[in-house]
Amino acid sequence: MIGAALLLSMPIYAATPVTIEGDHFVRGGKVHQIISGSMDFQRIPRAYWQDRLRKARAMGLNAITTYVYWNLIEPKPGQFDFSGNNDVAAFLREAQQQGLDVIVRPGPYVCAEWEAGGFPAWLFADPHSHVRTQDPTYLHAVDHYFQRLGKELAPFMAAHGGPIIAVQVENEYGSYGDDRTYMEDIHQLLIRAGLGTDLMFTSDGAIELRNDTLPGVLAVVNFGTGEAKQAFGALKAFRPGQPQMAGEYWAGWFDQWGGPHAHTDADAQTKELAWMLAQGYSFNIFMFEGGTTFGFMNGANFQSGPADHYAPQTTSYDYDAPLDEAGRPRPKFAMFRDVIAKATGVTPPPLPPATRFTNIPPFTLNESASLWDNLPASIAVDQPQPMEVFGQAYGYILYRTHASGPLKGTLYLGDVRDYASVYVDHALIGTVDRRLKQVSLPIALDSGSHTIDVLVENTGRINYGPHLADGRAGLVDPVLLDGKALHGWQVYPLPMQSPDDIHGWTTGPVAGPAFHRGHFHAGTPLDTFLDVQAFGKGFAWVDGHNLGRIWNIGPQRSLYLPAPWQQRGDNTVVVFDLQTTAQPVLRGVTQPIWIKPDSQTSE
Ligand code: GLA
Repeated sequence: MIGAALLLSMPIYAATPVTIEGDHFVRGGKVHQIISGSMDFQRIPRAYWQDRLRKARAMGLNAITTYVYWNLIEPKPGQFDFSGNNDVAAFLREAQQQGLDVIVRPGPYVCAEWEAGGFPAWLFADPHSHVRTQDPTYLHAVDHYFQRLGKELAPFMAAHGGPIIAVQVENEYGSYGDDRTYMEDIHQLLIRAGLGTDLMFTSDGAIELRNDTLPGVLAVVNFGTGEAKQAFGALKAFRPGQPQMAGEYWAGWFDQWGGPHAHTDADAQTKELAWMLAQGYSFNIFMFEGGTTFGFMNGANFQSGPADHYAPQTTSYDYDAPLDEAGRPRPKFAMFRDVIAKATGVTPPPLPPATRFTNIPPFTLNESASLWDNLPASIAVDQPQPMEVFGQAYGYILYRTHASGPLKGTLYLGDVRDYASVYVDHALIGTVDRRLKQVSLPIALDSGSHTIDVLVENTGRINYGPHLADGRAGLVDPVLLDGKALHGWQVYPLPMQSPDDIHGWTTGPVAGPAFHRGHFHAGTPLDTFLDVQAFGKGFAWVDGHNLGRIWNIGPQRSLYLPAPWQQRGDNTVVVFDLQTTAQPVLRGVTQPIWIKPDSQTSE
């Protein structure tokens, strides 16, 4: 019944399932090679899904691989949101219209340089529950999510004539643990949700294959440029006689705050793709288009070696992919297209008309409002608690207490999640940055009573590494003043969900953490990048859309502003900046701005 209803709305292309026969894939009786690229629909503005999918076909891809980010879909326990950019059914319909198969990776963990690897923040509120384990509370939450997601996805399985040919079980779990019972639990929950297919697979690095693969479930291998022969060698040795597939071939890389912008070797990647194609191997180019981690949804890496530290990723997820962040083909697009066309003998369809970009002349954000005038009602606590305790997921959180001087000493904040600005009577005395492994700062108080404010920004929960399981954000330790715990705090959650209620706007100068508001005019809205070099550390809203983070340590110094998020005529921009802004000016430019680390010079 489902199939019949779907076929009416999907006239173009009815997929047939892809199955495994010996060491190759088969579709409709013929050997099938999966030529896929990754593009996560939740990172691409919905209005551009069709354009990007057409471009995927124009590069010669026959499949798109996408993650599903649980934390966008279930922001509060039991409250599901499949609207707008989360409308996975609409994305699948569009992919099918464009004649593309889809490989779905529903997680629940996705890594993906995404907040907590896709886990909703509320999972971390319960200290007794543990993600990626057999913990029943966690598995129950996963089951609930899969059941609801299954309602959206199941009608689109290839067995029902839809485009979903394959479903991944978890994501590189072998890099995290070796509990196969947990993996089998996730596998069974997917099947229970209607997402079982002939092609279910686990995906791992070559060494980690040994930790988490499941009997009867395809194993595929993930690797970077230059590693294909070695990785396929390992996969063949591990699973002789099964189809050979790269679950992720990293033909690019991501950026972290304070690091360089990634440039990768397109020549080497093209040669490696030619080799995989010639072997008849299947693959998924990671990423075909990375897109943007809008809002506060970036993650952070934190591995376990002595030199390792918390390293959050930038808002731009350009990834040096064949399509740039804004969907424009870069030279490697044509290189990959040509090598795929040559190997398959199939001439791909032409590219759709190019998206138009515009400059926006400089405009000043001449109204400002202090954060101190925009605090919500506070919650009294004895000791600071992380934001999940207050039902908060993202953004900032302010902890306020009072202390009496005179004194000179150390304010110890412990494990800050992730960037704290400390103020005495509203004057900034210093910052504590988790990236730099900072935990404390010197403090001096004159005689009398003083207000101490600790404003903490969640700069992205860990998405990779052993620390992933502790996803608490804000302050998690008691705060010590010269070794003694400070008691009696007021907590102000600042999720920064919308600029609508900000008040106290003034055209006079406002020092310290503040909102800045201005306007630009769009005749016909066109894509642009906002040059945010006038600002220090914060984020920007345009017409209520959170475009992502601003941080003057680079490498990213512009924010992608897609045309569909603008309106014809007047557009309102609000920038939040922790730092005092000398001249709050923005402009739109047609190319992204990257600076070299620790410098103010463009690349
Ligand atoms: C792994 C993960 C991906 C992504 C890449 C790095 O392969 O599976 O989600 O994090 O690393 O970009």
